[in-house]
Amino acid sequence: MAPVLGLVGSSAGGVEQILPRLIEPLLERGWRVAVTLTPTAATWLDASGEISRIEQRTGYPVRWQPRLPGETSPHPPLDCHAVVPATANTVAKLALGIADNQALTQVCEAIGLGAAPVVVFPRVNAAHVRHPSWGGHVAALQLAGVHLVTGDDVWSLHEPRSAPGRELPWVTIVETIVAAVRG
Ligand SMILES: Cc1cc2nc3c(=O)[nH]c(=O)nc-3n(C[C@H](O)[C@H](O)[C@H](O)COP(=O)(O)O)c2cc1C
Repeated sequence: MAPVLGLVGSSAGGVEQILPRLIEPLLERGWRVAVTLTPTAATWLDASGEISRIEQRTGYPVRWQPRLPGETSPHPPLDCHAVVPATANTVAKLALGIADNQALTQVCEAIGLGAAPVVVFPRVNAAHVRHPSWGGHVAALQLAGVHLVTGDDVWSLHEPRSAPGRELPWVTIVETIVAAVRG
């Protein structure tokens, strides 16, 4: 059976490219992909018409709101979770277990369950990393077994607003997801 990725996108640079650069390569490898967005990311991708393109290509509704108590999830069971791109805000909330939107709810639960791998690419800058709480957030996620796609060779840190249009390390992200599921 094809593995299913639960892809969470938050409102950082590169979220506008998840369809061609992350979803398409995984679909070509035989994966299925079910997308959930943070509320701000949903606003951005809705404004550009990208949400309906993602829904057409993946065959699943894009989620950004919680279901009603009597409803069932419109997404299938997930074999892997990936938060790409992850804002500094979303990384901090994941580390603290704050689940105040649908995207965080599903990934916080996945981290706690430990049944499926969780891959996170923090699309952050040097100022985010200099925040006094950043090191603790990264340590908490690593301790929980989260696969963090970080490092100077993968994503060197730039100062705020100094890297517009910078490409995300898409190939490394795809390979990390595939390797995480292989185990
Ligand atoms: C154009 C634009 C680009 C942004 N890019 C980033 C980014 O690359 N990384 C980041 O951590 N925050 C970025 N932000 C800030 C986040 O969007 C903001 O902190 C937001 O509240 C995060 O919400 P979310 O984590 O729920 O998506 C950007 C904001 C704007 C307006």
